[in-house]
This record gives sequence, C-alpha cells and structure tokens, in this order.
Amino acid sequence: MPKTLLYLLLLFSNAAMVLVTPKSTIEPCSNSDSCSALLGYTLYTDLKVSEVGSLFNVDPVSILTANAIDISYPDVENHILPSQLFLRIPVTCACVDGIRKSVSTHYKTRPSDTLTSISNQVYAGLVSADQLREANDIQDPDVLDVGDNLLVPLPCTCFNGTDNSLPAVYLSYVVKDVDTLAGIAARYRTTLTDLMNVNAMGSTAVKAGDILAVPLPACATNFPRYALDHGLIVPNGSYAITASHCVQCSCGPGNLNLYCMPASLAVSCSSMQCKNSNLMLGNVTTQRSSAGCNVTSCSYGGFVNGTIVTMLSTSLQPRCPGPQQFPPLIAPPSSVTRDSTYAPSPAPQSDGAGPAGATTPKSSVVPSSGSIPGLPPASGPSGSVSSACSLTNSLSTFPPAFMLYLFVKFIVSIS
Ligand SMILES: *[C@@H]1O[C@H](CO)[C@@H](O)[C@H](O)[C@H]1NC(C)=O
Ligand SMILES: *[C@@H]1O[C@H](CO)[C@@H](O)[C@H](O)[C@H]1NC(C)=O
Ligand SMILES: *[C@@H]1O[C@H](CO)[C@@H](O)[C@H](O)[C@H]1NC(C)=O
Ligand SMILES: *[C@@H]1O[C@H](CO)[C@@H](O)[C@H](O)[C@H]1NC(C)=O
Ligand SMILES: *[C@@H]1O[C@H](CO)[C@@H](O)[C@H](O)[C@H]1NC(C)=O
Repeated sequence: MPKTLLYLLLLFSNAAMVLVTPKSTIEPCSNSDSCSALLGYTLYTDLKVSEVGSLFNVDPVSILTANAIDISYPDVENHILPSQLFLRIPVTCACVDGIRKSVSTHYKTRPSDTLTSISNQVYAGLVSADQLREANDIQDPDVLDVGDNLLVPLPCTCFNGTDNSLPAVYLSYVVKDVDTLAGIAARYRTTLTDLMNVNAMGSTAVKAGDILAVPLPACATNFPRYALDHGLIVPNGSYAITASHCVQCSCGPGNLNLYCMPASLAVSCSSMQCKNSNLMLGNVTTQRSSAGCNVTSCSYGGFVNGTIVTMLSTSLQPRCPGPQQFPPLIAPPSSVTRDSTYAPSPAPQSDGAGPAGATTPKSSVVPSSGSIPGLPPASGPSGSVSSACSLTNSLSTFPPAFMLYLFVKFIVSIS
C-alpha cells in the first residue's frame, strides 16, 4: 500500500520535472568569430532606456534603433519604458567552448537579489539561476555579496546569418505561458516548419520558459573583415546605428537592401561624401535614358580606422526607383497596450510550407539535464547538432524537491 503511494508520488514528481523543464536551442560553433543576434526581453519593471542599456552592456541608442523607436525624441535615453514592454536587444554572439552564447553582459548584484530573482525577473528567463551559478563559480547560491559583478551568459544563435539561404538574424525568444508555436510563427511571419527546423523540434509543443531561436528576415552587409562593423545585419523593419553614431541604416519595408545615411544625432563625423562626386552617403540620382534608368548611388561600406567608407556605384536599371522607403518609427513607448511591439497576428499558418521545406534541422532542443553540457556527440556535415541546455531555472527544479520533502514527511508520518 505505501509502495503504491510511493510509486505514485515518484511518478508525479518525475512528471512534474519533465513538464516544467525548459528547453533551449543551442548552436555549436567552431571558430572564434562573433556574430550579431537579438534577445527578446520583457521589462520586469519601469526602466530608463539607458538602464536597459546598462543591464545588457549594450549601447542604448542601438536598442532604440533595433526597435524602430524614434531617436530624435528629446532626451530619449532618459525616457522611462514601461514594465512588461517587449524589446529586441541587439547583442554580440560569441563562440565559447564550442557553443554560441553572448558573454558580454555583467550584472552588479544589489541587496535582496537572489540568483532566482536575477534569472526570472531581471533577465526575464533569458538565463537560469543554475547557469548564473555555474558561470560565476558560486558555491553557495544563498550567499550573494552585494556589488558582485556577475557574468550573465545569454542565449544566442546566428546560423551563419541565414535561414533557408536568405539573410536572417535570430531572436532568442522566451516562450510565455500563453504562447503556441503557431502563434509565434504567425507573429514573426515565419512558418511552423521553419521554426521546427531551426529549433530541431519533433513536435509543435512548447512550454513557458523554453527559449526558441526565431529567424527574422534581414538586410546583410558585406563590409571588409577589418571594418569595425563587419557582419552588421539589420532585421526587416528596423534600424541600426553605426560608425560612432554617425551613420544610420535601415532595412525594409519594400526590399531587403540595407540603406544607410548620415545619422541625425549631433556628433562630429568624418566625411560622408563619395569620392569624385558631389553625392553624400545615401544620395541616389537617377537619369532616365532610352535604355532604362541610370542610377548612381553613394552607399556605405563600413567603418574602417575611424573613417566612414563610401562607395559610389552606377547601374542601369529597367525602371527608376521611387523615393527611399523607411520602416515606420514609433515614439518611445510609455505604456504597454496589448503588446505594442507585436504586430496584429494574422491567422496562424498551418500548412507550414516554408520557402525550402527540405532543409535539415540546424540544432536540437533538448530538455535541460541539470548537468554541465557535454560536447555534441557527433557533428553532422552541416555542423549543426545540439547539446543539452545547461540548466533549468530554479523554479522548475523546485517541484521535485518539494515533492520529495512531502514524501519524506509522508513516510515519517506513516512509520
Ligand atoms: C554562410 O553564408 C555565406 C553567405 O552569407 C555562404 O557563402 C556560406 O556558404 C555559408 N556557409 C555555410 C556553412 O552555410
Ligand atoms: C518586411 O517587412 C514589411 C513590413 O513590415 C513586410 O511587408 C515585408 O513583407 C517584409 N519583407 C520580408 C522579406 O519579410
Ligand atoms: C544628399 O544627402 C544629404 C544628407 O542626407 C541630404 O541633405 C541631401 O538633400 C541629399 N541630396 C540629394 C541630391 O539627394
Ligand atoms: C550614368 O551616369 C553616370 C554618372 O552620371 C555616367 O558617368 C554614366 O556614363 C552614365 N551611364 C549611362 C549608361 O548613361
Ligand atoms: C588603420 O590605421 C593603421 C595606422 O593608423 C594602419 O597601419 C592600417 O593599415 C589601417 N588599416 C586600414 C584597413 O586602413
């Protein structure tokens, strides 16, 4: 009789563990190149733009441009963003111990912080308490010194900056309890198939706390390796600021060709005039001829040694281009209205036929094991395999422990 109960209790605690263990998509990597990625971050409290910037060690202006928030707004860096606002945070994605992760974020502990509160609240589930403990070699998680400078490892993937051979930047998205995979696919205008391929999922099931890699179509660049902004990639519908705040680039909405022009911020910048012409960065002139349209443009070629590289190019096109289109800018948000950063959801696509249905999975989503991630067993030809995500967040490890405690109490009370 007690044995049955014991069995049931163990079964239940196991089930609880399986049900609540979050998964995370991991991209193996082999070289030391870093790349660009985005974090999906939900503010846990009202924060100034500059405070969000220091939380992630990211330039506040780049957070604004990544979210198409108008940077010409007066004193915008001190603008207070509302709790629960969803933001895209641009981060540098490094390759550490064979796995893509972002390791440029540090957090200075404050009184009453715990690893759990830093994990669940401050970083909104992007890092787990166990990952924090492991990354900082913390022996006793109950003792955090105030003012400690903790490394906050954050999830990121790049997958070579492409998805189905088209330029893409990847958003690390923490699944909320109201989310479905179809809903996420619809919100980010991708397909179920593509999301499942990217995240190597066997089913469409997702759970709160899972971290998915969501591909966003983007404008890629081909700046030389020695350019400071080599590898710049800008998602459709957003902006980026580069060259020491001198150059502002946009992507979309009509096409995925990056368009750069002088930024509106008042800073002193090197020349942005194209050599041997009177055109400035971003200028395009057209000349109709019988053969078509002669288009001359002065475009951006990267930030090299403090110099803004400009490139003059001429091409003959069938039609003259219209005026440059820009992604719509929004005013800095002050309240959260039915998730202002989410586009109204079109009906979820159920056919799931992506542009290239025959792609192989890039990675796996594996339940967290609670152990140090081992190296992937064997890299496939594409070099994309997976490994167990480091750890669970402490909320999810709580139920089994609690069940065990109950169970022990139960046994004690029977005997
Ligand atoms: C990575 O992307 C580049 C183009 O951006 C492509 O030429 C290259 O083949 C890709 N590499 C892999 C391993 O997919
Ligand atoms: C870019 O975004 C615009 C508007 O947000 C959309 O109409 C367009 O289809 C997008 N382009 C791609 C390639 O996703
Ligand atoms: C060239 O670009 C500058 C700076 O963006 C702008 O002020 C000017 O109007 C442009 N001129 C032409 C001819 O497009
Ligand atoms: C196009 O314009 C450029 C500069 O205005 C000029 O040098 C070039 O000869 C023109 N090409 C054609 C085919 O008209
Ligand atoms: C950058 O400047 C340094 C010296 O100032 C020079 O040696 C180097 O060649 C420059 N690099 C490029 C790409 O121009």
